[in-house]
Amino acid sequence: MAVRYGIVGVGMMGREHMVNLSHLRGEGAVLTAIADPHLHSVELALDLGLSLNLPSIEVFSGHRELLDSGLCDVVVVSSPNMTHFEILMDIIKHPRPHHVLVEKPLCTTVQDCRKVVEAAQRRPGVLVQVGLEYRYMPPVAKLLERVQSGAIGQVKMVAIREHRFPFLVKVRNWNRFNSNTGGTLVEKCCHFFDLMRLFAAANPVRVMASGSIDVNHKDEVYDGKILTFTIKIWKQVPDIIDNAYVIVEFDNGSRGMLDLCMFAEGSKNEQEISVVGNIGKGEAFVPESIVRVGIRSEGRTGVKTLQAQDKRIKYEGLHHGSSYLEHLDFLAAVKAHGSGGAAPAVDLRDGLLSVAMGVAGHLSIEKGRFVTISEVLSNH
Ligand SMILES: NC(=O)c1ccc[n+]([C@@H]2O[C@H](COP(=O)([O-])OP(=O)(O)OC[C@H]3O[C@@H](n4cnc5c(N)ncnc54)[C@H](O)[C@@H]3O)[C@@H](O)[C@H]2O)c1
Repeated sequence: MAVRYGIVGVGMMGREHMVNLSHLRGEGAVLTAIADPHLHSVELALDLGLSLNLPSIEVFSGHRELLDSGLCDVVVVSSPNMTHFEILMDIIKHPRPHHVLVEKPLCTTVQDCRKVVEAAQRRPGVLVQVGLEYRYMPPVAKLLERVQSGAIGQVKMVAIREHRFPFLVKVRNWNRFNSNTGGTLVEKCCHFFDLMRLFAAANPVRVMASGSIDVNHKDEVYDGKILTFTIKIWKQVPDIIDNAYVIVEFDNGSRGMLDLCMFAEGSKNEQEISVVGNIGKGEAFVPESIVRVGIRSEGRTGVKTLQAQDKRIKYEGLHHGSSYLEHLDFLAAVKAHGSGGAAPAVDLRDGLLSVAMGVAGHLSIEKGRFVTISEVLSNH
């Protein structure tokens, strides 16, 4: 059974999706169309398509033309964060049903996420998966499987450290401004808030954070524009934070902590996850792809080190094969749809809550106090 895909936004991430889909031809995935207003991105995508031996890809300048073409069963939304809301609403409300894989974050505000959730509830024939694919990274998935099997007992603490390089340069520098991204804790850290919920097997109650922009992007200046009758142009400096600590309290009494630093290229790993339960502790290291698990009664000598790999991965991409596995899963859900099959593995509620936790973090930094998730869900 052929499943026809369109990709909206063929920048860095859209092209990773293209390669993933090329590796899923044997499973029935066919890339039929792309939409992107930026000529250079389209050229790069078409060159990539040729090198991947993807036969004929129709090019559209916008998502509406792609939807109207009738060429797609599934649409991958990998355009900048601030465009997700409008594009998702157009897809969900389109007369022709299209399943959707939308890149994280679902939207840049809680309010927009909620509108998308409500619109999708009125369109049950459309499957929407959110691109929170870190849960598919082999060491993360292995640790998750160990934790869920009860190896460390009842989870009490989940600490996630991301120490990495600064935000990359994006098309038209959209990622330099909170108004486009939702803020660093939404844009980047929605992945980690999603993982905290999974490891804690609980939902967030309140968030306390401290963070700022201290090192990166300080010498960058961009042109800002307001398009009214007279075009106004002014100089803008990036406002995205580059480091933060975020504490999250969950409704089962467990706690999460995020340690984010984006000027830490001198690190062996980009992500280090530590989950402690009442009987043991588990850790995952990315990209070392190592998992360590030990129990209190056996002490340091009893800690086991496991190598994590997933033989299903046919393309590593920039995310250690996780976006390939995300596609594999979503394609299976799409194929099973209609025969009462599986729901998307990462659903709209996961997308909404991961954004809400990031928004709460930013509000906490601004106000200098704990911010409850219910406050954010009702007001933002
Ligand atoms: N899951 C992950 O780990 C991960 C990693 C990187 C990026 N992302 C997400 O993927 C999305 C794209 O990021 P990127 O790094 O590829 O950015 P990018 O700047 O490299 O590419 C974005 C592309 O979208 C195009 N675009 C802009 N407006 C559009 C519109 N209205 N319709 C169609 N195309 C449009 C741009 O011209 C550009 O080619 C973002 O939402 C980002 O947060 C996710």
